[in-house]
Amino acid sequence: MGDEPARPVGAPNGQGGLPATIEWAGDRVRLIDQRLLPGELRVVDAFTVDDLCDFIATLAVRGAPSLGAAGALAIALASVRGDDLDGALEQVTATRPTAVNLAWGARRAAEADDPVAEARQIVVDEIDRHRAMGHHGATLVPEGGAVLTHCNAGGLACVDYGSALGVVRAAHEQGRRPSVWVDETRPLLQGARLTAWELEMLGIPYTVIPDVAAATVLARGDADLVVVGSDRIAANGDVANKIGTYPLAVLAERHGVPFYVAAPTTTIDPECPDGAAIPVEERDPLEVLEFAGVRTTPDGAKAFNPAFDVTPASLVAGYITERGVSPTPPLD
Ligand code: MRU
Repeated sequence: MGDEPARPVGAPNGQGGLPATIEWAGDRVRLIDQRLLPGELRVVDAFTVDDLCDFIATLAVRGAPSLGAAGALAIALASVRGDDLDGALEQVTATRPTAVNLAWGARRAAEADDPVAEARQIVVDEIDRHRAMGHHGATLVPEGGAVLTHCNAGGLACVDYGSALGVVRAAHEQGRRPSVWVDETRPLLQGARLTAWELEMLGIPYTVIPDVAAATVLARGDADLVVVGSDRIAANGDVANKIGTYPLAVLAERHGVPFYVAAPTTTIDPECPDGAAIPVEERDPLEVLEFAGVRTTPDGAKAFNPAFDVTPASLVAGYITERGVSPTPPLD
């Protein structure tokens, strides 16, 4: 295989000239540094497993399917550098525990005869899965419908096209004229920074709201459906996603608004029986105690900063995967 990708990976928002979210670049992994968006679009290179693990831990690359690609590409890096693959696998999978895709991608590449080819194939396959998912999910969006979403489940999180945002994007491409309520997603603002950035470039109307305003939007009947992505779906259908998803699902049920989860089958973990078994990452309390690097709380303040929560399957109206829309996650 040459230095060029097997096929153009494409831009996170399908805009010509934009770099790929994450890709193999001959002897390195190249990715958009999501920490800098929307202010600056910068591409950075990881030359070593350590480099890439640092990018993963600090959310330069993030979102479950993009993490799956990153995990696989980390093993590809290890293989071309002649590193110990078992050690690299252990290091990568320990970086962030919740998104099952990370360990899945890393393991797939580590078990392959050619880890580089396997990692590149995972990137290509993820793009295909998300386009199919968007196509299936778009049928749920009524003409002129308003979708409420949380965090970023667009091309930045999913290598390309997006899961929850892929549904909106496909509806837009089909001429259904969707609009989006974008939860800002405290504390790291993946909604306000990244989802808004993607929708802006796609030309899809959107409105950013503080997370706590979702109740008002739903109570007023201003959203037709909620669609979110996922970091891990347990065998019983419980869903781990960005902190703040579970209260959104409770609110959606209270106001009779259907709550959908859009995720590729690579996010389903059949080995995980239910939500209680999903490891939830706790991040640095400073992410809560500060805002944009400025302390906003008293010096003595403590903070609890779980990065994800678990929504029980009973609150989920349907699972949108590349195979279609189903009342339970496809496990086979
Ligand atoms: O901490 P992050 O930004 O990696 O969290 C991402 C999410 O929770 C997304 O909603 C999730 O990965 C699903 S979208 C691909």
